[in-house]
Amino acid sequence: MEKKKIAVVTGASSGIGREFARLLSKKKGIEEIWCLGRNIGRLNELKAEIGDRARTFSMDLTDRNNFGVISDMFEEEQPQITWLVNCAGFAKFCDYADIDLTTSLNMIDLNVCALTAMGLLCLPYMEKGAHIVNMASQAAFQPLPYQNIYSSTKAFVRNYTRALNRELRPRGICATAVCAGWMETRLIERASIGAKKGTTKFPHITSPDVVAKKALRDAKKNKDMSIYGGYVKLAHLLAKFLPQKTMMSMWLSQQDIK
Ligand SMILES: NC(=O)c1ccc[n+]([C@@H]2O[C@H](COP(=O)([O-])OP(=O)(O)OC[C@H]3O[C@@H](n4cnc5c(N)ncnc54)[C@H](OP(=O)(O)O)[C@@H]3O)[C@@H](O)[C@H]2O)c1
Repeated sequence: MEKKKIAVVTGASSGIGREFARLLSKKKGIEEIWCLGRNIGRLNELKAEIGDRARTFSMDLTDRNNFGVISDMFEEEQPQITWLVNCAGFAKFCDYADIDLTTSLNMIDLNVCALTAMGLLCLPYMEKGAHIVNMASQAAFQPLPYQNIYSSTKAFVRNYTRALNRELRPRGICATAVCAGWMETRLIERASIGAKKGTTKFPHITSPDVVAKKALRDAKKNKDMSIYGGYVKLAHLLAKFLPQKTMMSMWLSQQDIK
């Protein structure tokens, strides 16, 4: 029996995850798009837009019990996963002391552990030509004071995804880290709530749809990184040549943080 070809998108209820779900829904050969998020209302809105091919799953990916739930669903349905797009993530842009312990650790649980777990759960169901797209960030290029945990989680995503890309070459599967600059999504508003000191400037902010389109094109070219826009490309170049201390000072000065 033919296996059902599916795409799995985490963080599909909002922002760039929703854009990826929309774009994948226009691709031929994908029978279902499994859209994961927490906010069921927003997931239902996406389903109404995409149609019956969208299946929605409301779950908190910082709760590790949910990895068992996902594993059981794959085991039961035996799908062929052609795309995994990992977008679930959150940030806090403030002084380390203004974030409580639970929130700090949840950021690592979601941005690092859940992203890794989703890849490991999906890989047994992937065949040659499949894609893993992981949301990293421009924040992966250097340490960022007042985003110290967030930027570190994104450095993990970038390194991990590039190394995984090499390991997956013999299987013909491509992993791509999307190092996006600022995008107009709900992340910024949620990251800044309650911050007394932190990120207030978002230069060259762009809409998530163009970043998602480029990421899918780059994934098709088997690139291990996708970088959209001249500003982010320049930041990538500078981070290759300048000492990290200089990069951090430039960041603090750009953000007007004393
Ligand atoms: N916006 C930017 O400037 C920017 C730049 C570079 C990289 N990124 C990265 O892009 C990715 C997507 O973020 P976005 O900008 O699109 O922000 P967003 O609109 O806030 O979307 C974040 C998504 O993650 C989901 N999520 C949050 N906590 C979750 C949890 N505990 N369990 C399951 N899902 C959870 C949210 O679901 P609910 O809303 O249903 O809770 C939402 O669908 C993130 O990894 C982010 O780090 C963003």
